[in-house]
Amino acid sequence: MKTAVIILAAGKGTRMKSEKVKVLHEIGGKSLLYYVLEASRKLEVDKTIIVVGHQANTVKEAFPWRDVVFVEQKEQLGTGHAVMQAEKALKGFKGNILILSGDVPLITVETLRGLIDVHSKSRATLTVLTTEPENPYGYGRIIKDSKGNIKKIVEEKDASVAEKKVREINSGIYCVPSEFLFKALKEITPKNVQKEYYLTDIVGIAVKEKKKAATHKTLDFKEVMGINSRLELAEAELIQRTRTLGELMKNGVTIIDPVCTYISPSVRISADTIVFPGSMISGETVIGKGTVIGPGCVISDAKIGDAVNIKAYSVIDKSEIEDGAFIGPMAHVRPESVIKKGAHIGNFVEVKKSKIGEGSKANHLTYIGDATIGKGVNIGAGTITCNYDGVKKHQTIIEDNVFVGSDTQLVAPVRIGKGSLIGAGTTVTEDVPEGSLVLSRVRQLTKEGLAKKYLRRKA
Ligand code: UD1
Ligand code: CA
Repeated sequence: MKTAVIILAAGKGTRMKSEKVKVLHEIGGKSLLYYVLEASRKLEVDKTIIVVGHQANTVKEAFPWRDVVFVEQKEQLGTGHAVMQAEKALKGFKGNILILSGDVPLITVETLRGLIDVHSKSRATLTVLTTEPENPYGYGRIIKDSKGNIKKIVEEKDASVAEKKVREINSGIYCVPSEFLFKALKEITPKNVQKEYYLTDIVGIAVKEKKKAATHKTLDFKEVMGINSRLELAEAELIQRTRTLGELMKNGVTIIDPVCTYISPSVRISADTIVFPGSMISGETVIGKGTVIGPGCVISDAKIGDAVNIKAYSVIDKSEIEDGAFIGPMAHVRPESVIKKGAHIGNFVEVKKSKIGEGSKANHLTYIGDATIGKGVNIGAGTITCNYDGVKKHQTIIEDNVFVGSDTQLVAPVRIGKGSLIGAGTTVTEDVPEGSLVLSRVRQLTKEGLAKKYLRRKA
C-alpha cells in the first residue's frame, strides 16, 4: 500500500504573538516544521505535501532542498479546508494518507509506524492518533460510544461541560485512505463556534456512513504536544534537547551538563568527544572523535576533526578545523576558514576566509582575513592583515616557515616569500622575496643616564 503525507502548516499561530509564522519558530536550532519533515522522511513515504499559507514563500524557502510539494491555502478556513488544498497534488494517488501538523514537532517515526500498523490491522476507514494528557485543555476531545468506539471529535470551543471532562484528545495526526478522505471533506461545513472547516468532522462522517473509525492511543503525550504558545515552545525545546543529547551520549559523547548544553539534532559527533557546559552547536556541524569543546563555545555549520582542542568561549562558523588543531580560548573563526592539522589559533585571534597551514601558530591578539598561510608559520601577537582598502578586499599570502614578529601590519595585496623573517613592528607594503629579513621602523634613540635629568626637568 502506498503512503503519502500531508503536513498542515498554513496557520499563522496567533497565540505565538509573533511576526514569524508558527512552523518556522525553532526548537534545538531547527524549525518546528523541520522535525515533522524529518519524521516523514524516515518513513520513506511516496509523496510529501506541505500546505502553506501564512508567509508561504518564507516557508518554502526554508526547505529548498527537500523533495516535497508545496500547495497553497490562500485563506485559512480551517484544518479540513487545508487538507482539501492537497487534493489536486494527489490526483491519481491511491493509498493511505498520513495527516500531520506542522506544529506537532516531537512526533517520532516509531509512533507513526504504529499508527499505520494499527490502521491496516484494524481494517478501519480512518484511524486517529490520540493520547491522554494530564490537562486536555485546548485540544479536540475523543468522544466514544458505549462500546468504546470513536463517534466524533469535539473541539474545546464547541464542547459541552461533559465533553470537556473527557481526557482522551485528538493529536491532529490521522491515517486515512485518499479515496475516503477527499470524498468526506466535500461534506464538511463550517457550522461551529470558530466557523471553520474542521478536519476532525471526517470522523463523524465515517461513523454516519457506518464505516469503522479507530483510535490509536500513544502513552507519551509529549510526542503529540502541539506548539501554540511560547511557553509550549520552551517545553518542547527542553524535551527535544534531552532527546538529542541522550542520543549523542548513547553514542559515546560526554556531555558534562546536559541541562545547559545546546546541540541541534542535525549535528554529528563521534565517540570520546567531550562537550563542556554552555556550548551551542548547530547546523550541519560534524565533529570527530576525542575532541574537546570547552565551555561556552558557539559552533555552527563547522567540520571539526579528531583530537581538536577548542578552548573556552570560542566561536566557529562555517569553517573547517582539522585534526589536532588548537583553538581559543576566545578565538573567532569566521566563515570559509580552514585551520589545518595541528595549527594553533589562540586567544583574541580572529580568522576570516583564510587558510592556516599545518602546524602554523597565531597565538595572541591577531586578525587574519583573506589570507593563505603556509606550514610552520609563526604569527606574532598583534599582527594584522590589512585586507580592506575601503573599497575592496585583498589577499595576503604567507609562504611556509615565515616568522612574523609582533605588531606587524601586512597591507594586502602582499606576499611573503618562504622562510622570511619580519621584524616586530613592521608595516609590510611590498612583496617579500624568499628568505628575506624585513624591518620597517624608526631607528631607536638611546641616551644613557638621561632618565633622571629628564624627570627633574619635568618636575
Ligand atoms: C487541531 C485539531 C484538534 C487537535 C489539535 C492537536 C481541528 C479542527 N482541531 O486544533 O482537534 O486536538 O489540532 O494539536 O483540526 N492549519 C492550516 N490551515 C488552517 C488551519 C490550520 O494549515 O486553515 C494548520 C496549522 O498551521 C497547524 C495545524 O493546521 O499546523 C493545526 O491548526 P491549529 O489551528 O493549531 O489547530 P488546533 O486548534 O490546535
Ligand atoms: Ca495546534
